Amino acid sequence: MKMGSHSYLKVWILCLTALIGATSAQLELGFYAKSCPKAEQIILNYVNQHITKVPSMAAALLRLHFHDCFVNGCDGSVLVASTKNNQAEKEAPPNLTLRGFDVIEEIKSILEAQCPGVVSCADIVALAARDSVGVIGGPHWNVPTGRRDGLVSSAALTLQFLPAPFQNLTTLIAHFTQVGLDIKDLVLLSGAHTIGVGHCSTIATRIYNFTGNGDADPSLDSNYVQNLKTTKCKSIGDQTTLIEMDPGSRDSFDLGYYKQLLKRRGLFQSDSALLDSVATRNIINHELSSLDTFYREFGISMEKMGRIGVLTGKQGEIRKICSKIN
Ligand code: HEM
Ligand SMILES: *[C@@H]1O[C@H](CO)[C@@H](O)[C@H](O)[C@H]1NC(C)=O
Ligand SMILES: *[C@@H]1O[C@H](CO)[C@@H](O)[C@H](O)[C@H]1NC(C)=O
Ligand SMILES: *[C@@H]1O[C@H](CO)[C@@H](O)[C@H](O)[C@H]1NC(C)=O
Repeated sequence: MKMGSHSYLKVWILCLTALIGATSAQLELGFYAKSCPKAEQIILNYVNQHITKVPSMAAALLRLHFHDCFVNGCDGSVLVASTKNNQAEKEAPPNLTLRGFDVIEEIKSILEAQCPGVVSCADIVALAARDSVGVIGGPHWNVPTGRRDGLVSSAALTLQFLPAPFQNLTTLIAHFTQVGLDIKDLVLLSGAHTIGVGHCSTIATRIYNFTGNGDADPSLDSNYVQNLKTTKCKSIGDQTTLIEMDPGSRDSFDLGYYKQLLKRRGLFQSDSALLDSVATRNIINHELSSLDTFYREFGISMEKMGRIGVLTGKQGEIRKICSKIN
């Protein structure tokens, strides 16, 4: 009897230790404070210089973080190049328009010179996204660090996990739920479309041949459709012209995107879809009430997104080159 309760206690202690062990390897603010004290400053300096010269790159770096996190967690897998034997995430159709890989690789090489094998590519992506939005005067959010780089990058996973611009609200919510985010995160993070550009090819069908009868999506303001066709996407086959998601303020992190939505001018179906429920409309109106609110709540959702499926502790690796698994 005594023996029994003793071993019972032992099992308990083992369980507790395992639990503490498993949860202790978490992201933390300033993870590199001892191992590479200048890391965050180096990233900030580089981003400051670069984004000041090329403000449109802020949108690209923010989107890179989103794609990284949604596909197999924030583990730098979006950066990996394909090999003979592996079709990487980059190879999936949504890849075509991702930008900013060279910026991340350049930062990585500076950090490798400073502290070899210490700072993960996944953390560089997360910090660079935050810092570049800061440079253009947008919201600030905390980026706890300690992410490790993944050993897998697969084009098939991109298709499974990344939401697509032609999806409806139900499907979008399902994609967000799949990675532990809710409808508030969906509306807030879509607010990132207040900066940046898309390609005509992404909306060609929507404005030229929505149901196959030479028509446009009726959920899009018809004046706006006309305007897009005459001044931007002049033919259904246009592969190159860029369009702003928030016309006139593509480099400014403002409420313009949500204002566009209410005018039925959301560029993608996934943007317009945010009007399709009372719950999502209420969130849009709540954000429109104040820029401070939008900034604060966007930051909360970004921090949440930055925790999706992270590898920590001894998981994964610290890549030497971001495009190549060691
Ligand atoms: C809700 C689901 C989402 C869908 C379906 C979606 C879709 C897209 C598409 C199709 C483009 C333009 C691609 C092109 O035609 O070149 C784009 C651009 C962009 N997206 Fe999203 N997106 C979503 C959510 C997000 C999130 C969560 C973020 C970041 C937090 C984000 C940030 C961006 C940015 C900044 C751009 C502009 C990129 C640039 O200027 O290079 N998007 N998105
Ligand atoms: C993107 O993916 C396509 C296949 O879907 C591939 O042909 C192309 O080379 C990829 N582009 C980049 C920049 O990796
Ligand atoms: C949303 O899209 C999915 C997949 O295409 C479809 O099965 C579903 O019926 C659509 N839902 C609504 C409400 O339109
Ligand atoms: C519009 O869609 C229909 C049905 O998919 C197709 O037959 C037609 O060729 C398309 N028109 C153009 C201009 O692409």
